[in-house]
Amino acid sequence: MASVAIDGPAGAGKSTIAKLVAKELNAVYVDTGAMYRAIAVYFIENELDPEDPEEVERACTKLRVRITYEDQQQQIWLNGENVTDRLRTEEVGKMASCVSAKQPVREKLLQLQRDMAKQDNVVMDGRDIGTHVLPDADVKIYLTASVEERARRRFEELSLKGIPCDLNNIQQDICMRDHQDMTRELAPLRQAVDAYYLDSSNLTIPEVAAEILKRCKEKNVWK
Ligand code: DC
Repeated sequence: MASVAIDGPAGAGKSTIAKLVAKELNAVYVDTGAMYRAIAVYFIENELDPEDPEEVERACTKLRVRITYEDQQQQIWLNGENVTDRLRTEEVGKMASCVSAKQPVREKLLQLQRDMAKQDNVVMDGRDIGTHVLPDADVKIYLTASVEERARRRFEELSLKGIPCDLNNIQQDICMRDHQDMTRELAPLRQAVDAYYLDSSNLTIPEVAAEILKRCKEKNVWK
């Protein structure tokens, strides 16, 4: 099976780009952040403390994350309940960043992600795909953008949805998430040595997708 790994910080546009690339390549798009977000939902809804190791251990034995696809859209199931619509809040994003630093949580999702890449051609995005989950991925991309640009995009996205927000607060949150994801002990966000660095600050979505597709063609993994 062929695989494309796209890693990068929050708000770099990974999911938008990965979806487009997957469509072009007729591959399955796997959003690993959504899996961590599902576990975050479990912690929030059960009022669990992610800093309590026993609670984390217990939660991981109880929770089950499953992924299905409906019309090529990834659906995330938590203990038999479809939680896809509950994943995209700031609160869940922050909790996901906390719980994803914990060993039992990472162990729980690692095998699931590797199994998915064994079953299908995948475009998988996250923080540690090229470095840990799929170290032998055919194409590895480290997709980033300046903090200012990532905050601006997020601000625009929320404003378009009519959600009141503040640009400075968004920028601060992004910096905090970057720090947490890059400095944690386990599988921190970093560029794999063999990943292609792509800064999307001054590129359009089609330009970024085209750049990645070019790498896929060069590697000759997809026709
Ligand atoms: O990409 P996202 O914002 O949906 O990810 C939410 C959090 O999940 C992110 O802050 C860090 C964590 N994550 C991770 O540790 N490893 C991944 N492969 C994907 C996400």
